[in-house]
Amino acid sequence: MHGVRNGVCEYLENACNSVLSEDVSSFTQQLLILMSLVPMGIIVVFPLPTSFVYNTENYYKLYDIISIALWPDYTCPRPNTMRIATLDERSLSTARGFFFPIKKGHANRWKGTIDQIVKSSDLTQGIPLMNGLIIPSKINSIIISGNSGSGKSLGVQAISELLRRTPNTKMIYIDPKKSAGARWARGHPEVTLVIPEENERLEEYLIRVTQVLAKEVNKIFKVQNNLFHQSSKIDSNAGDIRQIKTWLVVEELEALEAFGTKKELEALFHQLLLISLLGREAYTNLMLSMQVPRNDILPVPIRSQMRCRIQLGRIDSSTTTYLFPDLDHIMMPYNGPGIGICDIDGMGVQPIAMPTITSN
Ligand SMILES: Nc1ncnc2c1ncn2[C@@H]1O[C@H](COP(=O)(O)OP(=O)(O)OP(=O)(O)O)[C@@H](O)[C@H]1O
Ligand SMILES: [Mg+2]
Repeated sequence: MHGVRNGVCEYLENACNSVLSEDVSSFTQQLLILMSLVPMGIIVVFPLPTSFVYNTENYYKLYDIISIALWPDYTCPRPNTMRIATLDERSLSTARGFFFPIKKGHANRWKGTIDQIVKSSDLTQGIPLMNGLIIPSKINSIIISGNSGSGKSLGVQAISELLRRTPNTKMIYIDPKKSAGARWARGHPEVTLVIPEENERLEEYLIRVTQVLAKEVNKIFKVQNNLFHQSSKIDSNAGDIRQIKTWLVVEELEALEAFGTKKELEALFHQLLLISLLGREAYTNLMLSMQVPRNDILPVPIRSQMRCRIQLGRIDSSTTTYLFPDLDHIMMPYNGPGIGICDIDGMGVQPIAMPTITSN
């Protein structure tokens, strides 16, 4: 990696000098901050020998200083692990440093009609979660969690509304509570809505949901077979055989828990697990929403497959422990309803404010 020095580096050195002890400051040449342009990030070097230790604790201590100091001109997603940059053409004593990926600017909450949001975005690239933050179209699984009233339903609806307008995409919407999502999907006949029928026993509904999922699993195997026969590429996906994407949305997953026996639930989670494991290449995608993705509610293998994780509402160790187990705190620069944190494809945790969609 190649690092350059600019005004931002000097500014950050001063910010760090004030917090770190004197013997590791830039005044004594014990601290050097550089900026890398590709990939974009900040490199913090402590020339050796030094009393400073390159460990996780110090990494996140510096993250706290740098992420605040750079906001709002730059966004600094919180890396999930300590990252080290290797510097080219340097003596061994300064050949590495802490690396903090950054992005220019910061994302803003969408506020407006769905048409306005769609007009300012390119849906073929992905889901525009904020103005300046997209869930890339390669992401095939999303989980949204948060306490009651945190904005899950509105968040799922905003994403669904964007998916509905995305070319070559179809949706199956499962809402056991028959609540906001069901009312939204009802207005869109192209969305397949799976809700409990009047007079249907809850257990019967659960079995019906499992059957819907099993049908999608069968489809995955068919698509994989077609890919095997029709695609000459090794790294291929269903896009190569012009398969459209299916998004399976399951709202309030934990509500289903109360609907059936242990055996029936196992059958349901078995299908969900297969979809989360096998769906990517076959273009069968999954979006789940639930209040608390506890291990006894959402099997760990399904949870660990989720590539976009969103946690809304209160952010503390009791709420982040399942989706963001390594996170103890993060700055929150947004206000109002539907705010929280997200991690897209393990790129690091960052604050978000879900879209506020107004009617036309
Ligand atoms: N992105 C948003 N923009 C504007 N208002 C929002 C947003 N998200 C949530 N709200 C407000 O918060 C209220 C609760 O949101 P929502 O129904 O989505 O919560 P929830 O997490 O689904 O709750 P529950 O678990 O009880 O279903 C909404 O009725 C709305 O007034
Ligand atoms: Mg809800």
